[in-house]
Amino acid sequence: MKFWVTMFSITLVLAANLAMGQSGGDLVKQGQDIYEENCADCHRSNGEGLWVKFPALKGNALVTGDPKPVIATVLNGLKGSLGQMPAWKDTLDDQQIAALVTYIRQAWSNRAPAVTPAMVAATRRQ
Ligand code: HEC
Repeated sequence: MKFWVTMFSITLVLAANLAMGQSGGDLVKQGQDIYEENCADCHRSNGEGLWVKFPALKGNALVTGDPKPVIATVLNGLKGSLGQMPAWKDTLDDQQIAALVTYIRQAWSNRAPAVTPAMVAATRRQ
């Protein structure tokens, strides 16, 4: 009896790990869907933007650097020499922005750590 209880617990732990591993992949997939829907018109699906109109996000130090400035840019938009980047704080929630920013930090050749909904919530309050 004890053996089966142990086996059952091990199975549960394995299943939970598997589920967590999958949710990591799902986050990037969800981020990609949000990107395609909201960002790709300007920044393109390949993240390379459009010359002198929309900056490339691929290989962009702001995107792969400290997470706060990139989260703030997505939340509040940005007005600069190229034009107006729209704000997303009223359209996308913390979870969606975390997935989206994680995607642009890890897509193409970008390699930066994931962003959590808690980090988005903290930046939103500032
Ligand atoms: C209507 C076109 C448009 C859309 C849609 C758009 N952006 Fe932008 N984005 C811009 C422009 C223009 C800039 C540059 C503003 C400037 O500096 O003049 C920019 C800048 C940025 C920057 C800062 C890049 C840098 O080097 O300063 C990031 C990050 C970014 N956008 C991410 C996103 C994400 C993520 C989305 C989707 C949620 C998105 N953008 C949707 C037009 C757009």
